[in-house]
Amino acid sequence: MAELVIVDRDGKEHPVEGRLGVSVMETLREVDFGVAAICGGMCSCATCHVYVDEAWVERLPPRQGDEQELLQELGSFRPATSRLSCQVPFTEALAGLKVAVAPDE
Ligand code: FES
Repeated sequence: MAELVIVDRDGKEHPVEGRLGVSVMETLREVDFGVAAICGGMCSCATCHVYVDEAWVERLPPRQGDEQELLQELGSFRPATSRLSCQVPFTEALAGLKVAVAPDE
């Protein structure tokens, strides 16, 4: 386990224990801050959209084509910080990662 800091839609921070070896989405789905993750991580629903804290953006693996395309369709897309949390593996190296839950669309 390693800490994952989740910022809810009201801007409140919640440090939680993140599950290692699975995507960030898996932890977000277990806590109840509005991440539906309807497609279960298949990169097809965008309901796992988060904004990654700017201090962490460069430490994540880059977006792949499918993720990029899906994100760009969202009105809430922010080019610098938007990610689909199902496409971000959570590892020890990311202990302390901070993500904000994006608005519901
Ligand atoms: S869970 Fe559906 S795109 Fe991430």
